[in-house]
Amino acid sequence: MFIGYKVNFLINATNSSDLKFGRLYLNQISDMIHIPENIQELKSYKPGKPLPQIIKELNLSEVAVLWNNENNFGPSPRALECIAKATPNSHLYPDPVCTELRTLLAKKWNRSFDEVAVGNGSESIFNNLFNAFFKEGEELLTCEGTFVAVYIWAKANNVKVSTVPLNQKFGFDLDALLGSINDKTKAIYLSNPNNPTGAMIAEQDLVEFIEKVPEHILIIVDEAYYEFANDLGVDYPNSANYKYENVLTLRTFSKAYGIAAIRIGYAIGHSKLIEAIMKVKLTFEPSNLAQAAGIGALSDFEYLEKTISNNTSEIQKYYAVFKELDLEYIPSYGNFVMLNLKTEGIVQYYFEELMKMGVFVRPLKAFGLSHCLRITVGLPEENELCFKALRKLAAVSAK
Ligand SMILES: Cc1ncc(COP(=O)(O)O)c(C=O)c1O
Repeated sequence: MFIGYKVNFLINATNSSDLKFGRLYLNQISDMIHIPENIQELKSYKPGKPLPQIIKELNLSEVAVLWNNENNFGPSPRALECIAKATPNSHLYPDPVCTELRTLLAKKWNRSFDEVAVGNGSESIFNNLFNAFFKEGEELLTCEGTFVAVYIWAKANNVKVSTVPLNQKFGFDLDALLGSINDKTKAIYLSNPNNPTGAMIAEQDLVEFIEKVPEHILIIVDEAYYEFANDLGVDYPNSANYKYENVLTLRTFSKAYGIAAIRIGYAIGHSKLIEAIMKVKLTFEPSNLAQAAGIGALSDFEYLEKTISNNTSEIQKYYAVFKELDLEYIPSYGNFVMLNLKTEGIVQYYFEELMKMGVFVRPLKAFGLSHCLRITVGLPEENELCFKALRKLAAVSAK
C-alpha cells in the first residue's frame, strides 16, 4: 500500500511537471536506505559481451573456451539422467537435510553423515562460513593471488581479509601465514591446488602447517580441483581424511564432474563445524535437481575417468608447447595452467590475439596477478587450437 502510494506519487509528480519535488522525494528514499560501506565498496559484477556475440562479431569458425576451468566434456551423463528422474517432483520442496547425497559422500570419504554438508556450490558454503563462524572484528587470513571469490565474500560479510604474498613458486607461503596469525585471526583459507596459479601444498607441508596453527583457528582447505590434483601429484594430500577438529575441506561438483551450472558442492569436517554450516544454509538449498545431479555424478566413474585422464595427459602437451615457445609456466595440479608473461601489457596482447583466433583465456588482474594468464586444459582438439594460436603469436613476436 505504502509503496504503491510512493510510486504513484512519483509518477504524478513527474507528469505534473513537479519534477523537482518528485526528485527530492526520490533522494529522501535513497537517504533512508543506507547501503553499508563494505557493500558500496564491492564492485558489481560486470558481465562481458556474451560468448555467442563475440563469436559472431569475430566471425570465428572454431573456438576453444578455456577461461573458466570448466569441464569441456559437458555434464556427467549420469547426472543428467538423475536430473531427468527428479524433475517430475519439482513441485515439492527438496530434502533440506540432503540425506541421500550426504550419505553417499560420507561413505565415499569414510566419514560419518554428520561430517558432511552440501550447498549451492562450494562458493555458497564458503559464503556461509562467515555467518557460521565469524564474530565482529574477526579476520580471515590468506594469500594474495588466490581464488578471487574469497575476497569478495569476505567483504560482502564485512570480514577483513589479511593477506601475505604467495611464495616464489606462486604457492601458499605457509611460513608467512603462520607468522601473520594474530588475536583477530579466526580462519585461514588455503586453495589446494591454488586457483589460479596451480601450485600445490604437499601432504607433509600441509600436516606440519595444521599442527602449528592454534586449534581455535579454522583452516579452510579448498580442494575444488581435488580429482585432477590427486591424479597429477604423488604427494597431494586428501584433507577429507584428516580428523583435526579445526580443518574444513571444501569440494565441488563443478569441475571434474562437469556440472558447474547446477550449483552443488560440499564440505567435510568435524560434526560441530558441519552442524553450524547446516544451521545457516538456506533451508532448501541445494535444489532437488542439484541434489539429484550430485547423486548421479558420484556414480559416473566412466565420465570421471575420461575427464581425469584427458587432463593428466593434455597438461603435458601444454608444458611441451610452453617449453618450445620459451613461455614461463607454473607446474599445475588443476585443470588449468598459468603463464607468467611478465607484464600486464603482454597479458592483454595475448588475451586479445588469442581471442581473435577463437581461443578464450583468462587474464588474472582481478586475482592480483596482472602479469599472468590462465589457460584451462580443454579437449584435445581445443588444446590443439590453442597451441596453433600460441605458435602463431610466437612467430609474430619473433619477427
Ligand atoms: C578454488 C575454487 N574454489 C571454489 C570454486 C567454486 O566452486 P563452485 O562452483 O562449487 O562454487 C572455484 C571455481 O572456480 C575455485 O576455483
